[in-house]
Amino acid sequence: MPIFKKNKFLADRSCLPNHVGIIMDGNGRWAKKRGLPRTAGHAAGVKVFKNIVFYAKDMGLKNLTVYAFSTENWKRPKKEVDKIMQLLDQMIDEALDDFMNQKVRVRFLGDRDKINESLLKKMDLVMDLTKQFNNTTLYIALNYGGRQEIVSAVRKIADNLSKGELRIQDITPQSFGKYLYYEDIDSVDLIIRPSGEQRISNFLLWQSAYAELWFSDVLWPDFKPEHLEKAIYDYQHRNRRFGGI
Ligand code: FPP
Repeated sequence: MPIFKKNKFLADRSCLPNHVGIIMDGNGRWAKKRGLPRTAGHAAGVKVFKNIVFYAKDMGLKNLTVYAFSTENWKRPKKEVDKIMQLLDQMIDEALDDFMNQKVRVRFLGDRDKINESLLKKMDLVMDLTKQFNNTTLYIALNYGGRQEIVSAVRKIADNLSKGELRIQDITPQSFGKYLYYEDIDSVDLIIRPSGEQRISNFLLWQSAYAELWFSDVLWPDFKPEHLEKAIYDYQHRNRRFGGI
C-alpha cells in the first residue's frame, strides 16, 4: 500500500468494526461543480464504490452495507432514476467476476417491488453465485428504507400472531431481528456519511441503535481508501458504552 506509507491514520486490522455502513452521498454536487449532469456524478460514484468495496475486503472487513437507492429516491426525475438503475445493472456485469474471485458475498437489501425484472434477475444471479462466500458480505441497499424494513417485520409478526404461530411475550428486541429483511444481518458499528450532510436518512434504523457516526465534507466521488482508514481509525478511538458506564 505505497500511497498510505505516510498516512498516520491507518486503521488497526486487529480490531476492525464488524459492520460498516456507508451513505454514498454527494454525487450530484460533485457533478454540478464540474458543470456535468448529475448522472455523471453517479457514474463516478460507482467507480468509487467498486474501489472501496474491494479495499474494505482486503482490509478484512466482514460486513459492509452501502446505501445505493432509498425508498425516497423515487421522487427524483425519471431520467436520473433510470440512469442509477442502469449503472447498477452494468456494475453487476462488470464486477461479478471480481466478487467471485475475491469471495465477496453480495446481498441486496430492500423491497423488490418497482425494480425492473431484468435487474431483479441479475441481482438474484449475483446473490446466488456468491452466497457461499464468507470473506466479506456486501449488502447493497436498493429501494431500501429503514422504516419500511421495520414495518415489513411488524406485518410478518402480526401475520404469525393471527395464525397463532407466535405469542406476544415472545416478541423481544432479540427475536424481532428474525423478521427483518435478513435475520442474520449484524448490528452496524460505524456509519460513514460523506458530503457534509449529517443525518441518517432512513438507513439501517433498527441495526444502527448503537452505531458510531462519522461525517466528512468530501463528496462521494472523491472518497478515497484513506477516508475509510481515517473513519475506522477514529472509530477505534471512540469509547463505546452501549448504555453502560
Ligand atoms: C447520493 O448522491 C447518491 C445516490 C442517491 C445514488 C447513489 C448511487 C450510486 C453511487 C450509483 C449506483 C450504486 C451502486 C452500488 C452501483 P446525491 O445524488 O444525493 O448527491 P447530492 O446530494 O450531491 O445531490
